[in-house]
Order: sequence, then structure tokens, then C-alpha cells
Amino acid sequence: MTENAPEGGSHARTGPVATATGAQRTITAAIGEALVSARGLQKSFGDRRVMRNVDFDMLVGDITVIIGKSGSGKSTLLRALAGLTEPDDGRIMFDGEVVFEDRQRTPVWKEVDSYIGMIFQSYTLWPHMDVAKNLTLAPRKKLGMSEAEAMERAKRSLAEVGMSEHLHSRPAQLSGGERQRAAIARALMMEPKLLLCDEITSALDPPVAAEVLGVLRRLKEEEGIAVALVTHDMAFASKAADRVVFFHEGEIAVNATPDEAFNRSDNAELKKFVDAVRF
Ligand SMILES: Nc1ncnc2c1ncn2[C@@H]1O[C@H](COP(=O)(O)OP(=O)(O)OP(=O)(O)O)[C@@H](O)[C@H]1O
Ligand SMILES: [Mg+2]
Repeated sequence: MTENAPEGGSHARTGPVATATGAQRTITAAIGEALVSARGLQKSFGDRRVMRNVDFDMLVGDITVIIGKSGSGKSTLLRALAGLTEPDDGRIMFDGEVVFEDRQRTPVWKEVDSYIGMIFQSYTLWPHMDVAKNLTLAPRKKLGMSEAEAMERAKRSLAEVGMSEHLHSRPAQLSGGERQRAAIARALMMEPKLLLCDEITSALDPPVAAEVLGVLRRLKEEEGIAVALVTHDMAFASKAADRVVFFHEGEIAVNATPDEAFNRSDNAELKKFVDAVRF
């Protein structure tokens, strides 16, 4: 069992496992400690610089909300943390170990990458498979889990997001909110320590977005995970955030508490941004 996992009950974590790509490292960061630290991240596409010297920390037990104009670099940062984009420079630490440096992933990356889950707005579930199949595919393939064990875990993950009755539903039979909750359940199958959510509530109406937020809150409190949430919805952002990060032209212009960011910041760009989206 990992250091900060709750003991016993249906939420008991099974702890590090041998994955298809290597052993998982035990995560030791406790609530309030840094799970992820990025320093000096740079990324350009052609001559367009989309991350400029980005320093970014995520603490276990925190929801960090990332806001900023379209094209400011929010998704690029999440993709870099998830291993889907390689920065041109800088360093990423995960649980105190260097996982990216000198433009490449270090060997430790393979021992921690299965702790990182990413959920997108549009790419969610395989439409031709039922929920059970969607959930069990990755753990069976990547963790070599038996069908029975994967199914047990699928039931547990669906229960965690209040979706138990949809084990055998197909994505087309689910509402948008149910689909996003199923996508969260799928990410939970790998027992992530870091959950990266890119505009996952954008297509949802406020009550359903609030439901999804409730699920994330319970997870960060009960499972002690770190959550990053990119959103364009400021009401949602101020409700969800323990920490607010404002991106402007590839730079982190503000990194503050929600109260500081939304009510007391003297950053002109942030004020302009918040005023423009507030109505
Ligand atoms: N693979 C790529 N090739 C070329 N340019 C890219 C690529 N990915 C991102 N970009 C560019 O990098 C910039 C930052 O993109 P990014 O997706 O990080 O923005 P964002 O803040 O998430 O925006 P949005 O709010 O619209 O999702 C954009 O100008 C985008 O066009
Ligand atoms: Mg984006």
C-alpha cells in the first residue's frame, strides 16, 4: 500500500504493481507535499513559444485550477506533465525524482507514468465498447490484471463516481455528465496519484459540472491525489480551486489562492481576463 493511502474498506489501494513496462515506484509524498515540480519548462512550435520558463508545483491533496486565454499554453503544460509532449528545456520532478531533464524522460519515468491520468473534454470513451470494457482495457493490458480482478476494480471505480448502474451501458446511452464520470472512473482504474483534467466540464451544465467537481473533491480528500483542472468557467474555477494558476502568453503570470487571484490580484492581464469572461 502506498504511504498516504487510506487503510481498509473498499477504497483500499493495492499498492505498487509490476507493470508491463516495469515496476511501479512507491509514492511517498503526503498531503500538502509536492507531487510534481516543474522548473524552467520551455516549448516552441516553430518560432511560436508556447511555454516560457514555466515553474509549476502541484501538492498532494490540492486542486490546481489553470486558467488563461485560448492558446496561452495550458494544455501544453498538462501534456508535458502527462508525457504526451516533450519540452525543449527544463526539468520535471515527480515525487522528488527527476523524470524529465536534458530534453528527455529519465528511466524513473517508466516507474511513475502509470500514476498519471489525463482526461480530456472530447476524447473520452471508446464508443463501440461498453463501460466495463472501456474501464478494464488499460489495466488488463498495462498492468497485466486478470479479467476478474479488473472487473472488481471497475465496479469499485464506478461506485466512486456514483455510476454503478452503468457498468454495461454504452457511451451513446450516457449523458454528457455520466460520460465524464465514466472517463474519471476509467482514469481511477490505474490508481493515479496525479489527475490532469483538460476542460472536462466545458460541455456540461452547471449542476452536472458541480457533480463532477464533487467527485474530484472527494478523490483528492479521500485518496490524497493531486488534481490539475483547466477550465474557462470562472465560477467553476473559484469553487474548485485550492490554487489558481493564470497563464498569459506561455508564462505563468499569477499563481495564487482563489481569493487572491479573483479578488485581490493587481495583475492587469488577469483582471482583463476575468472581467472579459465574467457576466
Ligand atoms: N502540436 C502542435 N503543433 C503546433 N502548434 C501547437 C501544437 N500544440 C499546440 N500548439 C500551439 O501552441 C499554442 C498553445 O496551445 P495550447 O493548446 O497549450 O493552448 P491552450 O491554452 O490549451 O488553449 P485553449 O484554451 O484553446 O485550449 C497554441 O498557439 C497552439 O496553436
Ligand atoms: Mg487547451
